[in-house]
Amino acid sequence: MRSPERFFHGAMLMQNSPMPDLYIGLMSGTSLDGADGVLVDFSGGQLKVLAAATEAFTDSFRAELLALNSPSNNELHRAAIAGKQLATIYAKVVHTLLKAAPGPAKAIGAHGQTVRHQPQKDAGYTLQLNNPALLAELTDIDVVADFRSRDVAAGGQGAPLVPAFHQSVFGQAGVTVSVLNIGGISNISVLPGQAGDPVLGFDCGPGNALMDAWCQQNTGQPYDAGGAWAASGKLIPALLNSLLDDPYFSEPPPKSTGRDLFSPQWLAAKLMPFLDELPADIQNTLTEFTASPCITAVCSYGKDSKELVVCGGGAFNLHLMQRLQAGLPQLRVLPSGERGLPPLQVEAAAFAWLARQTLHRLPGNLASVTGAAGPRILGAIYPA
Ligand SMILES: Nc1ncnc2c1ncn2[C@@H]1O[C@H](COP(=O)(O)OP(=O)(O)O)[C@@H](O)[C@H]1O
Ligand SMILES: [Mg+2]
Repeated sequence: MRSPERFFHGAMLMQNSPMPDLYIGLMSGTSLDGADGVLVDFSGGQLKVLAAATEAFTDSFRAELLALNSPSNNELHRAAIAGKQLATIYAKVVHTLLKAAPGPAKAIGAHGQTVRHQPQKDAGYTLQLNNPALLAELTDIDVVADFRSRDVAAGGQGAPLVPAFHQSVFGQAGVTVSVLNIGGISNISVLPGQAGDPVLGFDCGPGNALMDAWCQQNTGQPYDAGGAWAASGKLIPALLNSLLDDPYFSEPPPKSTGRDLFSPQWLAAKLMPFLDELPADIQNTLTEFTASPCITAVCSYGKDSKELVVCGGGAFNLHLMQRLQAGLPQLRVLPSGERGLPPLQVEAAAFAWLARQTLHRLPGNLASVTGAAGPRILGAIYPA
């Protein structure tokens, strides 16, 4: 794995340092499946994942988070309660991870649960539910939280924040590499082979969110395991065209999106004329709809890439992976595990890395990605 050293401004890391440099990263994304955590050691200029743990959300907590994504009754109170519940789940993950820790962790990077993402100028905010004070209380470790707001305050999208980390672990000298994260929303990072060239990145469109919703509604399963159900259906071209007919897809980057736009209501309106179609055919089309903007993103911004490294739970959707490969015959599509970091560990490790950046007063964003006025130190620190 490539050294993340250059993002630590070199001298901050001692090569072959005997002391572990431990951080915990916690990610719970828009798929609303649960909280993924990793314990990472950055000592010696190398990133090493010492432990990984996942805590699934209960059906009722997932339903509440989904409800809180839209305006609803008494939402301030309910958001505060959900933030506390999330912090308790995070603490459980942390306590599992600490069993493998060879020393004290310096900080926890806790993403929180996005329930609104409206970085556009008229609104200009992004909101992650969390209770970092409670998490600090429950773990006695410094917690870094609310990573996105500072980038938005600097005029950026606040997302994606992972490309700098992607560059540090997946970048290759002399070769352009594209990295695709398929969480609830999909986002791409294009990592240049030439030092000094800007990293590009943006949200492509929906990831698992809409496929999960349709699968849940029709089969009772939380997701289409392996994409087998989608693979059993066939494409409905008119539906695909309708889904792709949204202004988001023709907007140039920097851009980011969320469930604010690609909501259950958005999907229901698009599906209205197609409800006589077979559910499996709709799932097949939703999978193609997920793949298509990702393929376009690689062709437009990462066309020299030799590899598309896929992370996030979408990497386990074999049918989706096959559709990506079919649309990008010029390069190899591979799960991130083949490049040293398994799909569900990448984003969590990124938030461990971002927490370390913050503790060292180093920037975490890339202005070339988010459109912020410049590099910024992200997040707020809740001391142990
Ligand atoms: N075996 C699998 N087959 C297909 N999809 C899967 C599988 N495992 C996980 N997923 C998908 O990945 C999602 C979780 O991905 P994740 O990267 O955690 O997203 P997020 O960051 O939005 O939480 C699940 O909701 C599901 O859609
Ligand atoms: Mg998840």
